[in-house]
Amino acid sequence: MEADVKESAGESKNVLLMGKGMLITSENQIRRLQEVGLKDVTIDTSKGKDVAGGTVVDAPAAIKMAPVVKPPAGRKAFFKDEIKVARKIRGASVQVVKEFMNNAATGRSIDVKKVNLAAKTLTASVFRNVDALLSLTALKNYSEFTYTHSVNVCILTLAIAHASGVTEQEAEVIGVGGLLHDIGKARIPLAILDKPGPLTPEERKIIMDHPLYSEEMLREMGNVPEAAIAIAVQHHEKVNGTGYPYGLTGDQMHPFGSMAAVADIYDALTSARPYKVGLPPHVALRRVFDGRGTEFDTKVVDVFIKNLGIYPVGGFVRLNTGELGIVLESNPVDSRKPKVGIIFSRFGKRRDTPYVVDLYEASGADARTITEAEDPKRYGVNIEDYIQA
Ligand SMILES: [Fe+2]
Repeated sequence: MEADVKESAGESKNVLLMGKGMLITSENQIRRLQEVGLKDVTIDTSKGKDVAGGTVVDAPAAIKMAPVVKPPAGRKAFFKDEIKVARKIRGASVQVVKEFMNNAATGRSIDVKKVNLAAKTLTASVFRNVDALLSLTALKNYSEFTYTHSVNVCILTLAIAHASGVTEQEAEVIGVGGLLHDIGKARIPLAILDKPGPLTPEERKIIMDHPLYSEEMLREMGNVPEAAIAIAVQHHEKVNGTGYPYGLTGDQMHPFGSMAAVADIYDALTSARPYKVGLPPHVALRRVFDGRGTEFDTKVVDVFIKNLGIYPVGGFVRLNTGELGIVLESNPVDSRKPKVGIIFSRFGKRRDTPYVVDLYEASGADARTITEAEDPKRYGVNIEDYIQA
């Protein structure tokens, strides 16, 4: 039973017996209420247990009408709350990766505790509201590609695992493997890693050794779980055996390795590099889908596409009104109706600040809907200017 007894009992003696919202849980509390002359209490059965006897009266309209506001299905926190934390978590994680990559390149030791803590924090955020960190994977840092890519692969793999029913405790291993998966690149000369042009067969061979270096370095660290090592060594494997470094087939791969392979290719495709432009999310998703069952695990691809939504955050879309905008927040209930920040009016006039519309909330004949995904570069739009780090 829950009560606010100041008005009824405390008023006469000007003493607050029980604060608003306090639970009545003991006989002693009831005796005290009786001692001050309280004869009746009203139990709000939506908040506390009913007791035997008494008269049942209808709850006041205000109580009956009060909407129960809960985060959407599968989310423990609201996007608007989680995104504030997620930005900090992502920023700190990029710094952790930067530090261990620099240490690895200069022969210094890796602080595994820091990596574990970052992995745990990222995992917890994904399990509170996956959409928050997921939306930040649309942010790419051109000059610090390896660091942001490692964090993005970590988040995307965690998102797939979360949607596949992996528990939070199991998923922390993915956090570790995701952050460390490209650590072997610390042994590849930068002249090859950042070469602004096509690689020679020899250079390609050198790059293709990085998962083997990652595996070796993780084993040297000691106490790194096998599932995390599997992510590091298998993220370039393909289920048809055409990947590297071992040419494993789908049934030889660790489930987390298969998830990381999809996460890795999606982030690589959507990122700009010295030798290529980044693809818009819908084009990258199409490429991933085309490799379903041949290059990538069928179930993983299905979960990934379902989770990212038809219109992933960071995508550029045309609305039925002729307006153009950026997908700012996905909608886990209906992926066709995300929040969109409108940048171009129906007359092609560009706005300085996006006008945010929630396609899910709007309804009726004149409601805005997405008609197609567009390439922002055609309109001179840099998506990252609109998604704040
Ligand atoms: Fe890699």
